[in-house]
Amino acid sequence: MTETVFTYAAPALKFGSGASAEIGHDLGSYGARRVILVTDAGVAATGHPARIADQVRATGIEVTIFDRAHVEPTDESLQEAIDFARDAGPFDAVVAVGGGSSIDTAKAVNLLTTNPGELLDYINAPVGKAQAPTHRLLPLIAVPTTTGTGSESTTICVLDVLALKVKTGISHPALRPTLAVVDPALTATQPTMVTAAAGMDILCHALESYTARWFGDFDAKRPEQRVPYCGANPVSDMWSERSMGLLAGSFRRAVAGGPGDGDEQRLVREEMALAATFAGLGFGNAGVHVPHANAYPIAGRVRDYRPAGYPDDEAIVPHGMAVSLTAPEAFRFTFDAAPERHLRAARLLDPAAEGSGPDVLPDVLSRLMRDIGIPNGLAEVGYVDADVDVLVEGALKQQRLLATAPKEVTPDDLAGVFRGSMEHW
Ligand SMILES: NC(=O)c1ccc[n+]([C@@H]2O[C@H](COP(=O)([O-])OP(=O)(O)OC[C@H]3O[C@@H](n4cnc5c(N)ncnc54)[C@H](O)[C@@H]3O)[C@@H](O)[C@H]2O)c1
Repeated sequence: MTETVFTYAAPALKFGSGASAEIGHDLGSYGARRVILVTDAGVAATGHPARIADQVRATGIEVTIFDRAHVEPTDESLQEAIDFARDAGPFDAVVAVGGGSSIDTAKAVNLLTTNPGELLDYINAPVGKAQAPTHRLLPLIAVPTTTGTGSESTTICVLDVLALKVKTGISHPALRPTLAVVDPALTATQPTMVTAAAGMDILCHALESYTARWFGDFDAKRPEQRVPYCGANPVSDMWSERSMGLLAGSFRRAVAGGPGDGDEQRLVREEMALAATFAGLGFGNAGVHVPHANAYPIAGRVRDYRPAGYPDDEAIVPHGMAVSLTAPEAFRFTFDAAPERHLRAARLLDPAAEGSGPDVLPDVLSRLMRDIGIPNGLAEVGYVDADVDVLVEGALKQQRLLATAPKEVTPDDLAGVFRGSMEHW
């Protein structure tokens, strides 16, 4: 029997310039007295976390800052944050100020300071034991400073397991933040490449959830089998479509304008923040598929690529960039499963896009990537044809994501997508 039910869940949302000044009041409404604020060094340098901490302290709440979240968290970096919080606690609420890296670190801190055991107990199988938390988590307020991941709305924490060279996650509804505070003013200092890469993450969230397998095409689930990601559905479609419309108007301008908060940039950043929020509310329920599955090995097996705007002490293919690098080919591959959706998405992203074949959406994506300074394919970040087998092997480990693709994905299909993504223009 096929599925007849879809689900939708989201955190409470406070959106707008100045929203981050009210966090003390919000924490007070949860009865919080002692909170931990999680951020990373780059975000700490902007002064936003210290300002938010001072505003919270002014309401009589004690704040301890942890400012060493790792950009793209690892099992080791999450453990360091958890150890810090276990030593400095107990706390009665958690605040995350930063991009997906800080928000995901805060989710792990929240889980492992309220529940017994270790990280591996909760990490998705087969890498970990995929246990569900048995104790209630603390209220978590997530305050994104990038326009990207949507992590402030989602149930997942993404991490790199260093010994296995594999990216995976922890996924449970209890991880979803209690309140998302989206204050576009905080994103004005985003480096240009962070705006570009995180923006491609927004775009792929919207596109992948819009083209995901329809919820009614899955086998019927029992109530206890329901997962947060249930496939494309009428509610997630609405958020995805709106997100793509906003990106069409603001993405190129946000990157070209660079950091800053002139009137024009303020408007554009607000639209990008709305686009990120909408896409997060969509994909956080529908799920993502091939480009995200491919991103895991692309990021996990990086050799020496170091993009501007990110810490330069380590090689990194930032998440949003890694997701985008195979997106044009992935959507050429999925086109025949839902041509009308691929074409509608292409025209939402570029109303001038013409044609009706499988190349329309890939061409829209390639033009955009070139215009905003994303590398021209896998070759530019250091991959060669001889890497394809290992990239396919890594993507195949993401079965949860591949199962959300609108058609079956074989190892040969993935190899074709990786090979076709070495150079886009
Ligand atoms: N949990 C989820 O639902 C989810 C979804 C997508 C991605 N992710 C994860 O999120 C991470 C990527 O997050 P991201 O793209 O938001 O970036 P990020 O948090 O990794 O930050 C990228 C860089 O930008 C800097 N930065 C962030 N905001 C800034 C600001 N306002 N001003 C100046 N510098 C700023 C950071 O210091 C860092 O150097 C990856 O680990 C990815 O796997 C999680």
